[in-house]
Amino acid sequence: VNLADLRRDYARAALDLDHTDPDPLAQFAVWFKEAEDAQLLEPNAMTLATATVDGKPSARIVLLKGYDARGFAFFTDYRSRKGRELGDNPHAALVFFWGELERQVRIVGTVAPLAAEESWAYYRTRPTGSRVGAWASHQSAVLTDRALLERRVAELTTEYEGREIPLPAHWGGYRLAPTELEFWQGRSSRLHDRIHYTHSPEQGWHRVRLSP
Ligand SMILES: Cc1cc2nc3c(=O)[nH]c(=O)nc-3n(C[C@H](O)[C@H](O)[C@H](O)COP(=O)(O)O)c2cc1C
Repeated sequence: VNLADLRRDYARAALDLDHTDPDPLAQFAVWFKEAEDAQLLEPNAMTLATATVDGKPSARIVLLKGYDARGFAFFTDYRSRKGRELGDNPHAALVFFWGELERQVRIVGTVAPLAAEESWAYYRTRPTGSRVGAWASHQSAVLTDRALLERRVAELTTEYEGREIPLPAHWGGYRLAPTELEFWQGRSSRLHDRIHYTHSPEQGWHRVRLSP
């Protein structure tokens, strides 16, 4: 198939300024619920973009594990590439693509690590294999042989048999506190709807329509 001819026309829905919530987190909650109800494969999968201090970007998918007025939480290995980049430069962006709903949500903000208690509250709910994995893997470091990883997993599984697996110091959550959000609804002939929210300490949230 010729990629130049591969396109879809979007016609499912419209997004009006008047029909969006003044609070973008409330608007996100409405759309997230609709993504869940639509039984999308992983509605909480989002692209996380980070950058080095000298502006070299990198992006990858992570899972949203909670959101509220404070922001959007996800979990990872603090020693990973994203962890190192966020340690040096807290500016980051998130993107959700809910293709079946012809929707995109873009979020920009600053990221801070969660308190260890909050990371523990999530870590303890993870399946045993995932908790062991967080100890066994040094995310984003070179692994010369997969067998080494599997051996570490086997050793740690025996070691922690019948014991509570503690939270690794190198593992936990981050929360992105948003300063900007955009809700994108696909429309016909590429005349999409885009509602863009910005935050200022004096005026709180303000929203406008952007050109497609
Ligand atoms: C659907 C999906 C969900 C993922 N969820 C996470 C996650 O929640 N946390 C995480 O650290 N990596 C997650 N990953 C793996 C990351 O995309 C990435 O490979 C890993 O975090 C290393 O990235 P880094 O080297 O840029 O730090 C997920 C990947 C996919 C495809």
